Amino acid sequence: MALTELDHIAIAVHDLDAAIDWYATTLGATLAHREVVERDGVEEALLNVAESYVQLLTPTRDDSPVAKFLANKGEGLHHVGYRVADCGAALTDAVEAGARAIDEQPRLGSRGTTVAFLHPKTSFGTLIELVQE
Ligand code: CO
Repeated sequence: MALTELDHIAIAVHDLDAAIDWYATTLGATLAHREVVERDGVEEALLNVAESYVQLLTPTRDDSPVAKFLANKGEGLHHVGYRVADCGAALTDAVEAGARAIDEQPRLGSRGTTVAFLHPKTSFGTLIELVQE
């Protein structure tokens, strides 16, 4: 497998509108996409950074993993998404190399992408998302 591009850096925030405004006002970042991902219990906003994104994430319900993250760690870096050509192949390769998968199979992500997450325990403390466009 190869990582073809950085897809997004995901940052957990309490107030999505305030965070979008801050990135626009302070850094000139423009909104590319906004979506509620009900299955994951999150609303996300993607801001353009060249061919990649900053993804601002906020929980839509109390049992969302992002709600637990915010309660435990507060706002900040949540995960890094790397673009791959084939999410299933990349997931298999990563698991064979010793990474622990959170998703046993690739699944639907936002924007119609196919994604799979790798556990931070086996990746030096960073939650990693493999993203196939
Ligand atoms: Co992500």
